Amino acid sequence: MGQEFRHLASSYEYFTFEFYDRKDADITDKVALNLLMDGSNPDFLINCAAYTTVDKAETDRDSCYAVNTDACSVITEVLTGRKVRLIHFSSDYVYHQYLGFPIRETDEPNPQGVYAQSKLEGEKIIRASKIPALILRTSWVISSFGHNFLKTMLRLGKEKPSLQVIHDQYGAPTYARHLAQAVLDIILITATDEKKGHYFNDTYNFANEGIITWYDLADRIMKEAGLKCIIHPITTADYPTLAKRPHWSVLSKHKIKERYELEIPHWYVALKECMDEIKNKE
Ligand SMILES: NC(=O)c1ccc[n+]([C@@H]2O[C@H](COP(=O)([O-])OP(=O)(O)OC[C@H]3O[C@@H](n4cnc5c(N)ncnc54)[C@H](OP(=O)(O)O)[C@@H]3O)[C@@H](O)[C@H]2O)c1
Repeated sequence: MGQEFRHLASSYEYFTFEFYDRKDADITDKVALNLLMDGSNPDFLINCAAYTTVDKAETDRDSCYAVNTDACSVITEVLTGRKVRLIHFSSDYVYHQYLGFPIRETDEPNPQGVYAQSKLEGEKIIRASKIPALILRTSWVISSFGHNFLKTMLRLGKEKPSLQVIHDQYGAPTYARHLAQAVLDIILITATDEKKGHYFNDTYNFANEGIITWYDLADRIMKEAGLKCIIHPITTADYPTLAKRPHWSVLSKHKIKERYELEIPHWYVALKECMDEIKNKE
């Protein structure tokens, strides 16, 4: 996510951006963050940092909680008394319910596993702190940056004649660039439209439109990339992982679209754009 904001920075002349990585801004380090905020004094702070290796989290609970939960206390304590609005990312994993219809932000969370629980606990700390904060729950992030399902499929699709991919988990990919664009649009609206300013303090879902399974997505990736690799469907039970995956990650985007008048592209458009970006970098 951070890399996507960096990529977009030059096209948003209205803003001045400052980017920090872990060595300049360890979000678990209150002293360092305080110093940074004193020097920088921003209007908005976008927290892209997280512990995201969900299976490793099952055996590395303390490190996961330090970044996804305890650091939310650090950040909110540092921001208390400052005029800084926080943007924070959370996950579809906090829901973990097979609803059969798009999950709304008001649906009951049911996080399974250390990562999911640590993300929900982090959200709770932010909401309880009363600092102005926008929390975005997203799913299945793809990007030309970092590690993600799309890049893994493109790599394996070139190396292997066939792959097995899970067909009983439903959701939609989120192109990190579309999410970053939405965040910057929301910041602009918040900074310039007093009537919509109060919408900021809330929790929203964001993903690309549409619904698909990992299996169908992998199959589509191979076809779009012109790769011969055959995708075979398997069930979640056939592919055990340390952390449980939700079967249903279809998020309702109604609230964010209505309040901020956002148009969110379909996952297929997102996939094509992201694949073009990956190809351009080769
Ligand atoms: N990826 C997904 O599919 C997905 C789905 C739902 C929600 N999300 C959420 O979306 C957000 C962004 O995820 P992402 O995919 O961009 O994650 P990512 O690629 O794993 O990036 C996380 C970043 O956080 C940094 N970081 C970790 N601990 C830190 C610390 N103590 N201080 C400062 N930086 C630290 C990491 O730095 P190093 O490189 O130095 O380790 C890394 O650059 C996260 O909140 C995640 O939970 C992601």
